[in-house]
Amino acid sequence: MRQLNVDLGDRSYPIYIGEKLLANKQILVPHIRGRQLCIVTNDTIAPLYLPLLQEMLTGYQVDTVVLPDGESHKNLDTLNLIFDGLLSARHNRTTTLVALGGGVVGDMTGFAAACYQRGVDFIQIPTTLLSMVDSSVGGKTGVNHALGKNMIGAFYQPRCVIADTALLETLPPRELSAGIAEIVKYGLIADYAFFEWLEAKMPALMARDKAALAYAVERSCQIKAEVVAQDEREDGIRAILNLGHTFGHAIETAQGYGNWLHGEAVAAGMVMAADLSWRRGDISRTELDRTIALLLQAKLPVKAPADMTDETFLTLMGVDKKVLDGRLRLVLLESMGKATVTSDIDDELLKQTFAACR
Ligand code: NAD
Ligand code: GLY
Repeated sequence: MRQLNVDLGDRSYPIYIGEKLLANKQILVPHIRGRQLCIVTNDTIAPLYLPLLQEMLTGYQVDTVVLPDGESHKNLDTLNLIFDGLLSARHNRTTTLVALGGGVVGDMTGFAAACYQRGVDFIQIPTTLLSMVDSSVGGKTGVNHALGKNMIGAFYQPRCVIADTALLETLPPRELSAGIAEIVKYGLIADYAFFEWLEAKMPALMARDKAALAYAVERSCQIKAEVVAQDEREDGIRAILNLGHTFGHAIETAQGYGNWLHGEAVAAGMVMAADLSWRRGDISRTELDRTIALLLQAKLPVKAPADMTDETFLTLMGVDKKVLDGRLRLVLLESMGKATVTSDIDDELLKQTFAACR
């Protein structure tokens, strides 16, 4: 097992990464402060992994809330099901919520924990590759609104993250690819050597090679933890973690939540960000092509939907949380392995990117 730390003063917490951690009582129990637990999961994950977790938690009041599966349920109505479960089983302020699931379950459980009785403990047990490398770490929690993705939420850190890579065996191939998109992101924004490692190891990752997956999760979490420790509430550098996300969120919103997976939209969005970076002269055409080739190896989309017009993109990108005083800000590549956030965007180059990437 590998252990990393997210350094946030008195809200610091460990990330455990390894095989068969779900059934390991010694890892989870030290992070539970009260006698009540509420496991939040969904109707796909519950039959696979809930019994294993429940069996281990003897000696506690353990209640469960099983949400409907899917991004389309990541909203305030579904969030209320968590509060219904907590209140009807009389959970008090010393309860701990346990998120057993991917990013949708994790984001909603974290937000419920932030709100319930003005804040209770929560633990992240990510079950998708994407949630292991991204959403379970860093404390962004929330739900979608019909007018914008993740628009209602809070920064709220978990007590720990337990990434059991054995759970990835049951993950559908499309979800594996979606997680790889976020892993490629870390190489692009912060570590060119990791990007090159990914070029060499993509076949192994796609074949679910255990050692390759464990290293990819660890390196991704390391990079994310370092960035979050510097800028928890995204006043500055944390925005680089959103490479491709402004374009990607526009794609997700335009297509209807759940039709494009988050990681798929981020993949196409990263190609758009890399394309614009190339047009600005910051990366070479070869580097752009290598980025596209890597994402294609991971069976990810590298173009936006053909029917998305410039106007649709611009309108939806205007709702992005990075917009400041009405000015669009984008995360672009300063070079391979280094990202920058800029509002100095040439409209003509942006239009060329829209035209080239759909
Ligand atoms: P997800 O939570 O929808 O899970 C994907 C699918 O895989 C679901 O159908 C789920 O039931 C299923 N599943 C999960 N684990 C499984 C397993 N081990 N075996 C079989 N099936 C399994 O999707 P996701 O990609 O994990 O998360 C996407 C969400 O995360 C989006 O809502 C996105 O906005 C959010 N997100 C948040 C952050 C953050 O910092 N908080 C970062 C990135 C993404
Ligand atoms: N997924 C981007 C962030 O956590 O900031």
